Amino acid sequence: MGPVERTRRAGGAAADAGFPVLKARVIARTGHNYYADKDDLLHDRVRRRLKVCGLPDCTAYLALLDGPGGREEWVELEAEITIGETFFFRYAEQFEALRDTILPDLIAARRATRTLRIWSAGCSTGAEPYSLAILVHELLGEALPDWSVTILGTDISEAALATARAAEFGPWALRTLGEPERVRWFRNTPARPGQPRGGYALRAVYRRMVRFERQNLLALIEAVAPGAAYDLILCRNVLIYFSADHVNRIVRALGQRLEGGGWLLIGHAEPNPAFGQWLEPVALPGTVAYRPTGTVTAPSSAPPAFVPAPVVPAPAVVPVVPAPPPVVVPAPATRPSIEGDRPDDGEPGASPAALRDSVRSLADSGKTAQAWRVLQEGLAAYGTDPALRYYEGLLALDLGREADAEQALRRALFLDRGFVMAHYQLGLLLARSGRPSQAARALDNALRLAQGLPPGMGLPEGDGVSAARMAENARALLAGIAGATP
Ligand SMILES: C[S@@+](CC[C@H](N)C(=O)[O-])C[C@H]1O[C@@H](n2cnc3c(N)ncnc32)[C@H](O)[C@@H]1O
Repeated sequence: MGPVERTRRAGGAAADAGFPVLKARVIARTGHNYYADKDDLLHDRVRRRLKVCGLPDCTAYLALLDGPGGREEWVELEAEITIGETFFFRYAEQFEALRDTILPDLIAARRATRTLRIWSAGCSTGAEPYSLAILVHELLGEALPDWSVTILGTDISEAALATARAAEFGPWALRTLGEPERVRWFRNTPARPGQPRGGYALRAVYRRMVRFERQNLLALIEAVAPGAAYDLILCRNVLIYFSADHVNRIVRALGQRLEGGGWLLIGHAEPNPAFGQWLEPVALPGTVAYRPTGTVTAPSSAPPAFVPAPVVPAPAVVPVVPAPPPVVVPAPATRPSIEGDRPDDGEPGASPAALRDSVRSLADSGKTAQAWRVLQEGLAAYGTDPALRYYEGLLALDLGREADAEQALRRALFLDRGFVMAHYQLGLLLARSGRPSQAARALDNALRLAQGLPPGMGLPEGDGVSAARMAENARALLAGIAGATP
């Protein structure tokens, strides 16, 4: 019996004597307290590395981590245990707050120095800092060359950063964008040898605004003096990994790195009253932001005096909604759990929702083929779940399997005629494959259904896209099809 076979037969975490030491080392190094009560899940992840390395158990693996190739192996292990969900303009309300309040406020406050320093901490594969680059570019317009804008994306996962630097994404990461935005911000790339499909490359004008660096957020806690100061920090959907004590210390450290009058945005479900010890919460429509204490009442928080006109129309995903003046509100009393951001693929077979979360996590970290396999296995049990069929369609698109994608989206619609996102994605697919009249029918369905819903309602599986926004997207596409059809 070879070492890998022995690993497989060895069973779970309890049967692996070196596991407790390895687990303690992983948590100490990454801060991922999340795994404290999830031995089987972590062991499962580690086992994937054992298999790749041809090692029998955690004791042998620890020797590897402490040996000459240890640094490289830590990088692999960190990538294995941190699956990060992300996509462009994720959580629309926060991007509306950035567009309508936060960035205009900063642009007005920094007009003398014309400098903006922005940090996306825990940026995963880059969709978040790149969305910020697009916003800043559109808000500053022709004034952009006169400004010094730095946007830094950091993450513990080298694998995520490599994808971020390449700035090439599949339809999955762009799934909430309308077609006009896709065209404006990305260019299509052809499939390369060994790749099933082409992708969308972010245009260089946005790409070059962002720099990426590996950084462990735990280092913030240990650092003695605050480092560089930022005008805006985003640290969204990262704090879920850490213990409550680490969360407090990280948020406090982030606050210390804000310039006077700066802004901090954490995940929409992550605010905690404890943060009020170091920062002032500011209520914005649909979200809470934080500012250094004293900013909210200070003159610098007055309405922006100068907002350069955008050179291009505002992006469809971040509509201009007049924001009320900031008011301090009490933050939620508890820290809610964040479904869909769980850094694991859980037990995919447990329920359709668990399967959906695992598939999304895998796909968001670029493991499309693995996501597809997990989904196909799960569909054997949950083949009548419309949301799963919808994700089957999106994944098939990512894998370049257009016929499968169409079939899956049609199945989703057969199971749920009112599934707005499925009508919309089917419309996009049909338009791209040169079937304008069928595309128009699907988009018309999406438009009609979206118009029948409350405008502000988030659409199921729409990742924060509202009914009103979807109606607008569908209308724009229909106009494009009508204009192109003789
Ligand atoms: C769910 S993703 C969030 C991505 C993005 N902020 C968003 O909201 O779309 C979480 C990211 O945090 C990163 N992360 C986890 N622990 C970290 C640590 N100790 N230091 C830095 N990044 C970490 C993961 O690698 C992952 O890419």
